Amino acid sequence: DIKGCIFDLDGVVVDTAKYHYLAWKKLGAELGFDFTEQDNERLKGVSRMRSLDILLEIGGLTISQEEKEAAATKKNEWYLEFIHQMQPDEILPGVLDFFNQLKENNIKIALGSASKNAVLILDILKIKDYFDVIVDGNSVSKAKPDPEVFTQGAEKMGLTAAECVVFEDAEAGVEAAKNGGMRCVGIGEQEVLSQADVVVSGFTEFNIENLKAL
Ligand code: BG6
Ligand code: MG
Repeated sequence: DIKGCIFDLDGVVVDTAKYHYLAWKKLGAELGFDFTEQDNERLKGVSRMRSLDILLEIGGLTISQEEKEAAATKKNEWYLEFIHQMQPDEILPGVLDFFNQLKENNIKIALGSASKNAVLILDILKIKDYFDVIVDGNSVSKAKPDPEVFTQGAEKMGLTAAECVVFEDAEAGVEAAKNGGMRCVGIGEQEVLSQADVVVSGFTEFNIENLKAL
């Protein structure tokens, strides 16, 4: 009964979560405060501007709207420098294998990402052709944990929520999937992603048989 899988991008398909973190950390340092990996959990799955607001809250800073735009642009430029150096081996282990298993079983593949850089990243890694549907930060108006990004993905595949499974590494993303009435596989740690139906450390631990058993 599973006819489509919807994948978050950063931290699920590709190891870009660390680059977002490094770029935010650099911005924090420039603004005069430290930003830890634990703080970073709050930014996963969250849009660029909302992430900046959280970062500023952590640093105890208030800046003008103009300064915010400039800071977000700067962070994105640093992030893009990392992205352009990315190699295909930064696609997370087991992902392409799993995509191929889905293709063999006629299960559709969608992207459901908050990132405005999603298509660029898929292009750089030459994996865009795997996706039947792409929903990203340019096509949604409501951010995770709102289910819009996944609901749009299901609709564009022509499927109901019950026919889709979401793969997420962010707490806000797991919540979004559940809010949309979809099953969700958490990629990461059980403590962070406890709302997911199952949590695995990555796709080396999850195959088409596990999917069918959900
Ligand atoms: C999400 C990431 O996928 O995209 C967040 O988990 C990021 O960390 C968000 O802030 C927006 O990304 P971008 O590329 O549009 O700045
Ligand atoms: Mg993610």
